Amino acid sequence: MTELISIKDAPKYVDQEVRMHVWLTDKRSSGKIMFLQLRDGTAFFQGIVLKKNVSEEVFNAAKSLHQEASMYITGTIHEDERSHFGYEIQISDLEIVTNNEGYPIGNKEHGIEFLLDHRHLWLRSKRPFAIMQIRNQAFKAIVDFFEQEGFIKFDAPILMQSAPEGTTELFHIDYFDHDAYLSQSGQLYGEVGAEAFGKIFTFGPTFRAEESKTRRHLTEFWMMEPEMAWMHQDESLDIQERLLAFVTKRIIDNCEYELGILGRDIDKLRPTAEGNFPRISYDEAVKMLQDAGRDFKWGDDFGAPDEAYISEQYDRPVFIMNYPTSIKPFYMKKNPDNPKEYLCADVLAPEGYGEIIGGSERESDYDTLKAQIDEAGLNEKDYEWYLDLRKYGSVPHSGFGIGFERFLGWVCKLDHIREAIPFPRLINRLEP
Ligand code: 4AD
Ligand code: MG
Repeated sequence: MTELISIKDAPKYVDQEVRMHVWLTDKRSSGKIMFLQLRDGTAFFQGIVLKKNVSEEVFNAAKSLHQEASMYITGTIHEDERSHFGYEIQISDLEIVTNNEGYPIGNKEHGIEFLLDHRHLWLRSKRPFAIMQIRNQAFKAIVDFFEQEGFIKFDAPILMQSAPEGTTELFHIDYFDHDAYLSQSGQLYGEVGAEAFGKIFTFGPTFRAEESKTRRHLTEFWMMEPEMAWMHQDESLDIQERLLAFVTKRIIDNCEYELGILGRDIDKLRPTAEGNFPRISYDEAVKMLQDAGRDFKWGDDFGAPDEAYISEQYDRPVFIMNYPTSIKPFYMKKNPDNPKEYLCADVLAPEGYGEIIGGSERESDYDTLKAQIDEAGLNEKDYEWYLDLRKYGSVPHSGFGIGFERFLGWVCKLDHIREAIPFPRLINRLEP
């Protein structure tokens, strides 16, 4: 029986007869020859049906195909230097499974709202295919990295009573007769994990009711939040640097085909894979903006254009360290040398992409943390369990959160973060 293979594996079967299950993305004919553009979820390539080589039935079946028809095909693999994939199949037999007219997404240009309305179908197209494959590789690389570094995966809840990142961006829900919120961050639970297991990372969906309608905000996004007991901020920065270098290298090594589909310049990714990220202070970043004639005062938070300006000065990610306490959340540890600032850092991605990671050393002293909870106007009762971590066996600890879609946005050089997630949730979009 002829072997059933995926398109991705075609290079291993040159000059051999194989079977495949595929969908049609496009077709072209010149009388005696049909060119079928095919996909199977692993890659895209071309099938050729020559009238003289197949039965009339098979040729007519090929001629009748509509976009997104599904079928089994049998044929022989050949090299095809003209195509991006490099191989094609000469079809000898074809069995249609479904063949309906009217697929709404054609090969002409569609507006973005139309495509987002049809996201359930659009995901089959080449560009989303490439982005989702890269997303999958990045996910696997992250898991491999943390395993190699001795971390365990630890799951934080999604339904929460607390507000780790401030109370303005919470999605409120009725939880029986209580108030509850969708998780903004798994961090506080990650800190529990660090004290129980040493080094952990969470990875799950997080939610922000952000009114911002920008190219880098989703209301639902995936965040990975490592948390390390017995670790100070400088060692956490080393981990962040190793992580970003490792994942970027893996994508360069494994995703050449997908990056090619996106037209991504791989040379722009290489410096990140080398590590050695510059580390500048908030104060230095402020000076950099002011020297460039930008209107920015010490104590302000960076807006997207400010971050873009700073990140464009470097060919790889840059750490901005030690922000003023007034613009960061309550759980961070103050810099002992300057209590106006926290021991924290954001990572800005290159090419103007801005913040992809936020992290800090955590306040580990009970009384100091309690005071910071009060200062932030939070309800101490909701944080009793969190304060317990400082009562019993408290140790210096640090952690960070990487916005998965923000990272992918940069790797894939997307104009908007909505393309980095299968089903984007935006201020004006919950469907499909
Ligand atoms: O800087 P943030 O708010 O930090 C935290 O949530 C910390 N608890 C992380 C930690 O230390 N464990 O968010 C972390 C990252 C940002 O750097 C950004 O990459 C991403 O999450 N992010 C968003 N991504 C997409 N859409 C949004 N609305 C995002 N808000 C934050
Ligand atoms: Mg942040």
